Amino acid sequence: MSIPKWVDAQLQRTRFTIQHTCYEVSIFFFIMKRSPPDMTKAASTTATDTLFARPLDDVAGFCFDDKVAAVFEDMIKRSVPGYATVVGISGVLASHFAQPDSHIYDLGCALGATALAMADSVSAPGCTVMAVDNSASMIQRLRERIETSTIATPIQLVEDDILTTPIDNASLVALNYTLQFVALEQRDELLRRIFNGMRKGGVLVLSEKIHFEDPAIARLCTELHHEFKRRQGYSDLEISQKRSAIENVLIPETIDTHERRLRGAGFSRVEVWFQCFNFASLVAFK
Ligand SMILES: C[S@@+](CC[C@H](N)C(=O)[O-])C[C@H]1O[C@@H](n2cnc3c(N)ncnc32)[C@H](O)[C@@H]1O
Repeated sequence: MSIPKWVDAQLQRTRFTIQHTCYEVSIFFFIMKRSPPDMTKAASTTATDTLFARPLDDVAGFCFDDKVAAVFEDMIKRSVPGYATVVGISGVLASHFAQPDSHIYDLGCALGATALAMADSVSAPGCTVMAVDNSASMIQRLRERIETSTIATPIQLVEDDILTTPIDNASLVALNYTLQFVALEQRDELLRRIFNGMRKGGVLVLSEKIHFEDPAIARLCTELHHEFKRRQGYSDLEISQKRSAIENVLIPETIDTHERRLRGAGFSRVEVWFQCFNFASLVAFK
């Protein structure tokens, strides 16, 4: 079977090179059938996600309440292709780009997978990880995880809106699967605030579900994503009810739109470093 050109192009993109100041980091990615072991030293607390397993009379809009927080770790691992890679590589970026006595932000931290991976990887002295989320349930559960964790880097929990929370002295900012939940008209301003709160040489990692202008590619990536979810144990009913719940809540944009916005916010260099179907991650350098 021959590989379509666009699939081949996307496979090529999974090998990437970041050249920034004196660093050259080359990382090769491959799609993993199963998540690798948890890279953090914090306990995993999650239950199995069965939130959409039974037929619902009325599918309410998705929100990050206590029911979702209770199963979130399982939900995101089984729903987002490449999630474990993105979390792990956020740690790799922290080991390279965290500057001494700076802040490292995880904006929309949920249960803190990224915050913990970054905290566990930092070697620069005097860093604090700021884990920000406006869901009280997520923050409470992350507090419990941190209490039992052996990670030395301090993690400060901030229950706040990322649109208004102060961002300062940042050498690394992670915005993993969170911008997609921010209203479209507020995204430019948020990215400008992040840029302004970063030190020179600072790095932003932005991971999102993405949209394609070409309807055929959009349809194919949706089908492949659904097949991924089926292989993770979700039924067609679960996939379709979750899709209805999230439809008007998660608004994906194209990679071009993200790149334009990041450059418009002031970032000097933007690279797509990971893509699997309709999920991608970018790094942007100040
Ligand atoms: C899909 S989860 C993010 C996953 C997480 N970054 C990770 O790597 O596991 C999105 C999170 O963003 C949070 N969120 C969405 N909008 C927010 C806002 N305006 N301010 C703060 N948190 C927000 C939600 O509560 C949720 O926990």
